[in-house]
Amino acid sequence: MNLPPHLTIREGQLAIGGIDCATLATRYGTPLYVTDQDRIVSLFRSFRDELSSRYPKVKVLYAAKANGNLAILRALAREGAGADVFSPGELRLALSAGMAPGDLLFNGSSKSTDDLSLAVESGVTVSVDSFDELRQLDRISQKKGKETKIAFRVNPAIDVPTHRKIATGLATSKFGIPHDRIRDAYREALACRGVKPVGIHCHIGSQILATEPFAQTARVMAEIVRDLVRMGVTLEFIDLGGGLGIPYHHYEEERAPTPADYASAIIPPIRDVSAELGINPALWVEPGRYLVADSTILLVRVNSVKKAHKNFVNVDAGFNLLIRPAMYDSYHEVVVNGRAGMLPSETYTITGPICESGDILASDRRLPPIGAGDLLAILDTGAYGFCMSSQYNCRPRCAEVLIHGGEAALMRRAETIEDLTATMQIPPWQKE
Ligand code: LLP
Repeated sequence: MNLPPHLTIREGQLAIGGIDCATLATRYGTPLYVTDQDRIVSLFRSFRDELSSRYPKVKVLYAAKANGNLAILRALAREGAGADVFSPGELRLALSAGMAPGDLLFNGSSKSTDDLSLAVESGVTVSVDSFDELRQLDRISQKKGKETKIAFRVNPAIDVPTHRKIATGLATSKFGIPHDRIRDAYREALACRGVKPVGIHCHIGSQILATEPFAQTARVMAEIVRDLVRMGVTLEFIDLGGGLGIPYHHYEEERAPTPADYASAIIPPIRDVSAELGINPALWVEPGRYLVADSTILLVRVNSVKKAHKNFVNVDAGFNLLIRPAMYDSYHEVVVNGRAGMLPSETYTITGPICESGDILASDRRLPPIGAGDLLAILDTGAYGFCMSSQYNCRPRCAEVLIHGGEAALMRRAETIEDLTATMQIPPWQKE
């Protein structure tokens, strides 16, 4: 089994950041998300360095949607990361984690007037997704006596080899302004008094394991940049979004591009167009999954094992805590703690406690024997894991633990039954 360096197996026991999973489960209970902070920091550094060694001005904006825990944002802020924020909540969290407004890009295809006002007041750069939004932002900005820096999100009409629900740059996608209308958008923005177009932005999708779509995107963007510069736009940055995938299969060779491969794909078109036009824009990128996915495991306890149509292993977390398998048929490796590395004996399907047939975390896996009370680790759950969780079936969400330098601490306590009702109100007619 190929494992990243922060995950180790000794005598069948899985440890993360040097701490045994069994110890963590006993100390904090299950289900439990456990994240290794040092892994995130080391991935961030190597990712940034690969880009910076090939291009003079690089800014890495962590895609906060991938994992919005404040402790993660703080760890990355200390490393100098900015953030791609997609909501007022992400914007506020990034600022409170210590990120500077100038290091944030406020994205989103559906921003309310309040969202736009907050962006203007915070002084962040806004990625504008439509002509309508441009006009609203311009009005708000002028009313507040400000000039807001903007980029437009381009829809580059690029097909990417990934799950259709996470391909975002297709011609049919809801995101961005079609690339054949983008010049008109900049022309209009240049005439506005409340906004200043300083960047260009796109994001083609997520969990992309090939470099060609990134290279193609960079070429499409470079083509647009050429026209924008001729139109008189002074570009401070070109933002190519995120999307670099990770190998979720740990038993087979799943080829994933390295940051060096990624950098070599995207940088040449940007470097060439900059040299040709004599411009000096920064390169912004927005990795989410690559930085946080493999840092985290979800620990679950086996409630019961049932031989039926299949060998069902009923565990204490389901799509309430990890929706990716149900939503995208995504694959997460499962490790049976105590028997990790042992030869498989059975084919198991790991199912959660939610009242839906689709509540399956892993299907038809060859694993060592599993019994009630066993502890399982679901790997690579740091991106789009906890942050997409819900309280469905009135299940409080679980805790999240962070590990650093051999020490573990809560970065989010588990919710209680009281938390479930904390925001509920009794209507007046039910009060007597
Ligand atoms: N930038 C923008 C504008 C985005 O919309 C996203 C992700 C990213 C950057 C980061 O992409 P990444 O590097 O993480 O691939 N819930 C899905 C993934 C949704 C991605 C949404 N946008 C999943 O669990 O696979």
